[in-house]
Amino acid sequence: MIRCVVCGEEYDDDEVIYTCKKCGSVLELASLDVDIDKSIFECRKDTLWKYKELIPVNSDHIVTLGEGGTPFCKCDKIGEELGVDLYVKVEGSNPTGSFKDRGMTVGVTKAVELGVDTVGCASTGNTSASLSAYAARAGLRCIVFLPSGKVALGKLAQAMFHGAEVISIDGNFDEALEAMTALALDKYLYLLNSINPYRLEGQKTIGYEILQDLGWESPDRIILPVGNAGNISAIWKGVSEFYDLGFVDSKPMMTGIQAEGACPITNAFRKGTKDVVPVDDPETIATAIRIGAPVSYIKAMNAIYDSNGYSETVTDEEILDAQKYLARKEGIGVEPASAASIAGLRKLREEGVIDKGERVACVVTGHLLKDPNTAIDACTKPVEVSADIDALKNLLTNKE
Ligand code: F0G
Repeated sequence: MIRCVVCGEEYDDDEVIYTCKKCGSVLELASLDVDIDKSIFECRKDTLWKYKELIPVNSDHIVTLGEGGTPFCKCDKIGEELGVDLYVKVEGSNPTGSFKDRGMTVGVTKAVELGVDTVGCASTGNTSASLSAYAARAGLRCIVFLPSGKVALGKLAQAMFHGAEVISIDGNFDEALEAMTALALDKYLYLLNSINPYRLEGQKTIGYEILQDLGWESPDRIILPVGNAGNISAIWKGVSEFYDLGFVDSKPMMTGIQAEGACPITNAFRKGTKDVVPVDDPETIATAIRIGAPVSYIKAMNAIYDSNGYSETVTDEEILDAQKYLARKEGIGVEPASAASIAGLRKLREEGVIDKGERVACVVTGHLLKDPNTAIDACTKPVEVSADIDALKNLLTNKE
């Protein structure tokens, strides 16, 4: 059953609906009431479909590329430096290189179940990369709207190469999403942005996996970047469901990090309200989270307040610095938006919001290669020399 998160109005699972007809708010799938022992998940193949009993689609006909089951890396070097017990959930290891694949395997499976022939999304890049791959796999027509000139190269390449009809919108993500949503409401296509509650049913498994990765315990805190605010809402739903099923006996503080130039959620948190005022001209080097009007803001504010969590901003400089820190200290390559979680951890430790010794799980949402230009610009160019052994020895010795 689909349910409005604000007024509780209920809708049938198969109704194509994105917001509540009564009050206009966002929707969610009611959690499934299952009688299941958690040990069953231990012996299944490590994809998110190991949790199929808790995902409300017909699991006999799934559209999958093997998403989920991503690495959960204990990061002792950074952990020791920052004084926390640190784990990093590496979502860049999903099939198209971001956590969006978790949402798309479920969302596109639902699209096929509903019998639609066209799917679409607006995107800062990763959603479109993911949807175009899953639409190709399912044989569906795929239309994506991208904010002109603001999509990282790797993501653009993916959307184009998988055969989506890519349309560059002269405007930002918020404007592109508004246009795409209007088309969906006019029934031109089935919308697969995260306002579609089935998307979040896939993404909630990040929360499931973190708890299972920790041996059925909750971390003290989960930190992640926030843009359109779907993922923080999804992960909170996931950890809450496992808690309600009795699989764990505590829940993490949900901690959302935004870029300083695109921070409507943090602004609301600072004021202690759930009323989120859109930011008109969002700007950040972390193009994935360059979003001023997050559609899932109500769910995100609920997640932060209900979990006794927190929200903070980081500057572009702090993001780029954290991106390099994670890559060079721990060998984990992530795109700028993902590094916001590490930059946020650093800042909140300095501010004393995060206690010494806390067990923290940082979600890093997309792969380094999504944005090769930013990565190259952050490094000094390789030296050019001939393949002459003496010249090379000279060069390497002088470097020491
Ligand atoms: N990290 C990455 C790498 C993302 O691509 C996104 C969102 C986020 C974090 C934020 O997640 O929106 O659920 O709060 N990317 C979307 C896209 C907007 O179009 O690819 P969120």
